[in-house]
Amino acid sequence: MSIAIETKDLHFSYPARDGETMLPVFRDLDLQIQEGSFVAVLGHNGCGKSTLAKHFNAILLPEGGSVHVFGRDTANEELLLEIRRTVGMVFQNPDNQMVANVVEEDVAFAPENLGVPSPEIRKRVDAALKAVGMYDYRRHAPHLLSGGQKQRIAIAGVIAMEPRCIVLDEPTAMLDPHGREEVMQTIERLNREQGITVILITHHMTEAIRAQRVIVMHEGAVLTDGTPKEVFVQVELLKNAGLAVPATTELLFHLNRQGHSLPLDALSIEECAQALCAWAKA
Ligand SMILES: Nc1ncnc2c1ncn2[C@@H]1O[C@H](COP(=O)(O)OP(=O)(O)O)[C@@H](O)[C@H]1O
Ligand SMILES: [Mg+2]
Repeated sequence: MSIAIETKDLHFSYPARDGETMLPVFRDLDLQIQEGSFVAVLGHNGCGKSTLAKHFNAILLPEGGSVHVFGRDTANEELLLEIRRTVGMVFQNPDNQMVANVVEEDVAFAPENLGVPSPEIRKRVDAALKAVGMYDYRRHAPHLLSGGQKQRIAIAGVIAMEPRCIVLDEPTAMLDPHGREEVMQTIERLNREQGITVILITHHMTEAIRAQRVIVMHEGAVLTDGTPKEVFVQVELLKNAGLAVPATTELLFHLNRQGHSLPLDALSIEECAQALCAWAKA
C-alpha cells in the first residue's frame, strides 16, 4: 500500500511571546500514514495535533526535516496547489467554514476557486452533497442547519475538490451526540466507499476506537501508535501521561485491579458487555 503522508525528522517551533526565543513543538517527528487508512490522533491540548495537521497540507512548513504528501514535498512551492487539492481540511467550528448563503454555492466555492469548469462543478457539488447525505438540502440556507448538518456541508466542500485525504481537526467538538454520530458515519463511509484517507483528530475515545489506527501524541512526540486495541490496553502508560482511555477499558481495568480477570481490549460497548456476561457466568 502506498504512503499518503510521511514526516521525516520533522522539526517545528513557534516564536515565543517575547519575539526572541522559539518554542519547539516537534523534534525529529517520524510518521507514516498509509493511503486509504482511517487514523485517529489523540493527545492533550497543546501537544501539537493542530500544528501537525497544518503540516499535512502545507499551511505550515517544516523548520527541519520534511513532510511528503503522496510523494510530494510540501516545501516545494510549485506543488502547493496540488498538495492543497489533495489534502482537504475540516475544522472545529462549522460556522467559520461557511462562505455562501445557499448550501450548494457553499460546496461549489472551493472547486470554483480551483478553476474547475462549470459543468464539472455541478457534477462534483451534487456528488459531494450525496456523499454526505445532504443533497436534499442543496437549496437551503446553511445557517439554519444543525451543527452536524453544517459540518457535513463543510465536508462536502472538501469532497468537491476530490481530495485523496481528509484531515479533520476536532470536527465534532461543537456538536451534540446526534451531530457527532452523523459526522462519524459520514467520514467512515467516505473512507470505506471512496478509499479516502481519513485523519481524525479527536478528544472522544468513542470516536477513536472506530479508527483502524490510533496515534497518541504527547509533548510533540508519538507516545504510542497501533490499532485501537493495541493502544488502549496500555492503560497505565496512557494514564501516566494524563490521558483518558475509553470508559469500557476503564471499567475493565478497575475490575482487573480488584482481582477479576477480564480482557482489557473489549473496547466497544457490545464487546465489553459480552466480556462481562462471560465473566459473570464463569
Ligand atoms: N500560532 C501560534 N503561535 C505560537 N504558539 C502556538 C501557535 N499555535 C499553537 N501554538 C503552541 O504550540 C503548541 C501546540 O499547539 P497545537 O498544535 O494547537 O496543539 P493541539 O492542537 O494539540 O491542542 C502549544 O503549546 C500552543 O500553545
Ligand atoms: Mg488543536
